[in-house]
Amino acid sequence: PYLDDLSGFQAIEEKIKQTLKLDHVIITPGDSDQHDWVKQDLGLRAVEFLQLQLQSNQTIAVTGGTTMATAAAMMRPSIHSNGCVFVPARGGLGERVENQANTICAEMAKKMKGDYRMLYVPDPLSEETYHSIIQEPAVKDILHMINQASIVMHGIGDAFTMARRRKATAHVLDKLKSGKAVSEAFGYYFNRSGEVVYKVRTVGMQLEELSNIRTVIAIAGGKSKAEAIDSYLRQGKSNVLITDEAAAKALIKGF
Ligand code: G3H
Repeated sequence: PYLDDLSGFQAIEEKIKQTLKLDHVIITPGDSDQHDWVKQDLGLRAVEFLQLQLQSNQTIAVTGGTTMATAAAMMRPSIHSNGCVFVPARGGLGERVENQANTICAEMAKKMKGDYRMLYVPDPLSEETYHSIIQEPAVKDILHMINQASIVMHGIGDAFTMARRRKATAHVLDKLKSGKAVSEAFGYYFNRSGEVVYKVRTVGMQLEELSNIRTVIAIAGGKSKAEAIDSYLRQGKSNVLITDEAAAKALIKGF
């Protein structure tokens, strides 16, 4: 039921591109909520897209999550990966180790025969610790590298799925409820218009900084994520969307 002809996808890609003001939209067949191979396909398309963009000596910042972990599993060596460095975009955010940005960075770098740096910070940070930790020379060093990133790859999650998975406190859940949070990316939570309603305090890339980056690739699929994808992309900080057919079709219904 999912195998549409190519022109069918092209039309949906074009519609999403125009409505959400993106430079590229790539849709893979199927629904990643239903089948793991669809998520793997998403990961593979993300890797292929990255390889087309990649030039020697570039820094690539990545986030965590199961979709990004799948992209890491699909990573392949590239002729343009000379001197490339992978860095985590932000601190841990409460994910299991296999889904943390640090782990994904290391795996991507290994497969691309590139280098990586890690960010070791507890999360979430208190206001006080945040201000002292960003003064640490080792942290300053990696933050500097994160600021040099020319490509960012990240996942998008449903707000409450992510908050529960990261064991958010009752206080945070209340804030998300009262703010009507719909989506999450980079540890930021957004309402349906794409406004930030809550942010996890951690070091690393801040949302505003994404505007200076040429290629920001969002990778998210599954029908259950359609509203989240729409909400996150409303604030216009990413310019590429790699998604699946089920999410894409649900997304355009809402336009
Ligand atoms: O920030 C968004 C989440 O990392 C997405 O996680 O790929 O496991 O759904 P997921």
